[in-house]
Amino acid sequence: MTDIDVVVARSGEIEGDTLAVAVVDPATELPHAAAALDERTGGRIAELAADGELSGRRDTATVVHAAADGAKRIAIAGLGDRDEADADAFRTAAAAVARGVKRFAGTVSWLLDDSLPLQLDEQARAVVDGVILGAYEPARWKTGRSEEPKLERFVLVSDDADVEPAASRAAVVARWTNRARDLSNAPANELTPEGLAEVAQELAAEQPELSVEAIGLDRARELGMGAFSAVAQGSRNGGQMIVIRYEPASRAGDAVLGLVGKAITFDTGGISIKPSERMEEMKHDMSGGAAVVGAMGAIAELGLPLRTIAVVAAAENMPDGGAYRPGDILTASNGKTIEVISTDAEGRLVLADALVYARGHGATHVVDLATLTGAMVIALGDLYAGVFSNEDRWRDQILAAGAASGDRVWPMPLDRRYRRLIESEYADMRNTGKYRMAGAQAGAELLQEFAGEGPWAHVDIAGPASLTYGRGDYLSQKGGTGYGVRLLAELASRLA
Ligand code: BES
Ligand code: MN
Ligand code: ZN
Repeated sequence: MTDIDVVVARSGEIEGDTLAVAVVDPATELPHAAAALDERTGGRIAELAADGELSGRRDTATVVHAAADGAKRIAIAGLGDRDEADADAFRTAAAAVARGVKRFAGTVSWLLDDSLPLQLDEQARAVVDGVILGAYEPARWKTGRSEEPKLERFVLVSDDADVEPAASRAAVVARWTNRARDLSNAPANELTPEGLAEVAQELAAEQPELSVEAIGLDRARELGMGAFSAVAQGSRNGGQMIVIRYEPASRAGDAVLGLVGKAITFDTGGISIKPSERMEEMKHDMSGGAAVVGAMGAIAELGLPLRTIAVVAAAENMPDGGAYRPGDILTASNGKTIEVISTDAEGRLVLADALVYARGHGATHVVDLATLTGAMVIALGDLYAGVFSNEDRWRDQILAAGAASGDRVWPMPLDRRYRRLIESEYADMRNTGKYRMAGAQAGAELLQEFAGEGPWAHVDIAGPASLTYGRGDYLSQKGGTGYGVRLLAELASRLA
C-alpha cells in the first residue's frame, strides 16, 4: 500500500480532481468555505441543500460532478450539529469523503473553514487523521486488487501558518497507525513473534536513532523471565522479547519513556483453551505490541527529543506438549512467584517480565498497552480503553493525550483493596481473579507487582484495539484500528 501524500496549499493555489468542504446539519446554513465554493460552482451546493439532496449529518458525504477551480467534482461532508462539530466530527467527515471518492483516483483538496468552531490547525489534524485512517483498506489479502484506483494526494487549503506543521505531524502519526493496523490484521500464520521482531529490525534499519535487540526464549530463561517463557513454551513459534531503543541526539530532559506492549500473535487460551466461536479474532491479541512498534516509528520520524525504550513481549499462546498448565508456579524476573490458574490469562504473565525489563533498563515513566481482558470490553465497549495508574498525574497526562489524539481513554480504579482478588494459597499471587468481579482490575493488580518504582500506567485496550463491526465513525473497517499509536505519540510529544 502506498501512502497518501499530504500537502498544504494557499487559497489561491487550489488543485485537484475533487474539492471537499464540510457542512453542518441543517445543510441549508452553509459555513464560510462551503458558501464560497458554492459561489464558484454557480450555486450548486445551495441548490442541492434546498432540494434536500445534501445531508449535513455526520458520516455522510455527497459527491457530485461540478466544475470549480479546475476540479471536476465536489464532495460535501456532513459534520452533524454545529455545536457538536468536534475533532471526531471532522475525522468522520474526512473519512466519509475518502470512502466517497474511492472509485476515482487522484487528488482531493479539502477547504478548511474558519467559521467552524474547531481551530484551523485542529481541523487540519483531524481531517488528515480521518482521510488516512478512513482510506485504510483491510482487504490486503484479496487477490487482483492492484489496478484499483486510489486516493494519492490530499491537499489542505488554508492560508493559516499553523496548518502545515499540524498536518504533517498528523500524517506521520496516522501512517504509523495504519502500519500498526496492518500488523494487527496480519494472520498468525504470517506474523509470528519472530516475524514481529523482524519488523522491528527493519524499522530500526530505516531510522539511525533506533536500535533493536530481540531476546529469544533461551536467553529469556537465562534472564529469569519465567512468566514470559512459560507462555511462549507451548508454541513451535518461539517467543521474542523485543527491545527497541530510541536515543535522540538532542534531549529535552532526563525522563526516559518506557513503552511496553502485549504481543500475543495468537491467543488460543492455551490448555485453558477458548471456545472456537470468534477465536479468529485472537490474531489481534498483539495489538498492544503493534501500537508500541508503530509509536516508536512515529516518535523517531517526528524526531522527538525524548529517550524512549520499548519492550514488546511477543509470544504465541498455544497448547502443545510443552505448554504450561494450570497449577504451574512461575518465577518472574523480579523474583516474585505466580500460580497459574488459567493459561488464558497469559497477557499479564508476558507483561510482568516486560515491565521488569523496561524499569530495569532505565524507564522513568512507564505505560503498557494490552488487549488484556474481556471484562474491559464489557465495561467500555469499542470506544474507550481503560487506564489504571499508580500516580494521578501520570494518569491525567495519559487521559489528556487520549482526548487530544482521538485514542480515547477512561480512568479505572487502581486500589490496593483489589489485591485480595489475586491472593494465592501457594505463591505470591495467582494469575486470575478469585471471584467473578472486577476482572480488569485483577489484571492491573498483578501488573502493578512488576511495575517497580515511579509512574506507571496500564492501558487495557481490549475494546478499541480491534473492531468486530464498523464503528460508524472514521473507523468503519472491521479489524485492527491501530489504537494506541496516536495516544503514545501524543504522550511522547507532551513529555518531550
Ligand atoms: N486476549 C484476551 C482478552 C481479550 C478478550 C481481548 C476479548 C480482546 C477480546 C486475554 O488473554 C484473555 O483471555 N483474558 C481472559 C482473562 C481471564 C482468563 C482471567 C478474559 O478476559 O476472559
Ligand atoms: Mn488469553
Ligand atoms: Zn490474550
